Amino acid sequence: MSKFLKSAALCFAAAMAHPVLAADCEFTVGTGDMLKFDVAEMTASASCDTVKVTLNHMGNLNAQVMGHNWVLAKTADVQAVAADGMSAGAASAYVKSGDGRVIAATAIIGGGESASVEFSIADLSVGGDYTFFCTFPGHSFVMRGKFKLEA
Ligand code: CO
Repeated sequence: MSKFLKSAALCFAAAMAHPVLAADCEFTVGTGDMLKFDVAEMTASASCDTVKVTLNHMGNLNAQVMGHNWVLAKTADVQAVAADGMSAGAASAYVKSGDGRVIAATAIIGGGESASVEFSIADLSVGGDYTFFCTFPGHSFVMRGKFKLEA
C-alpha cells in the first residue's frame, strides 16, 4: 500500500470511529490585522501520517507591516526559536535556516494571502507540550496557542 493510501486509510478509519476527528489531520487557522490566531488550541490525531495546516490572513495590512506565519515547536523552544527567527530577518521569513527545533513553519503572509505547511508528526509524542506561534518580530508573546497530539 502506498504511503498516501495508508495515510488516507488511517485518517478514514479515525473519521469513522469519531466523526469529529475527520479534520484532525488538516486544520485551517485564520488571522488578520491584529496579533491573533482565531484558534487557541489545536488537537491532531496521532494516527495522521502528516498534518496539514493552512493559514489564512484575512486582514488588509501587507506582510511587511503585519506579517504572520504559523510555526510549531516544543513549548520550551518557543522563545529561542522566535529570537533566532527575528535575527534571521525577513529574508528568512523570520525562521532561522535549518533550525532543528522548528517542527513546521509556513511562509510569512500578509492580508489576503494564504500559506500551508504539511509535516510529519512521527517524532511528536502524545501528551507532549507543543506550541504554535508567529515569529514575526514582537508577535510570538501573544500570538500563540497549544498544539496537542491525541492517541
Ligand atoms: Co504575526
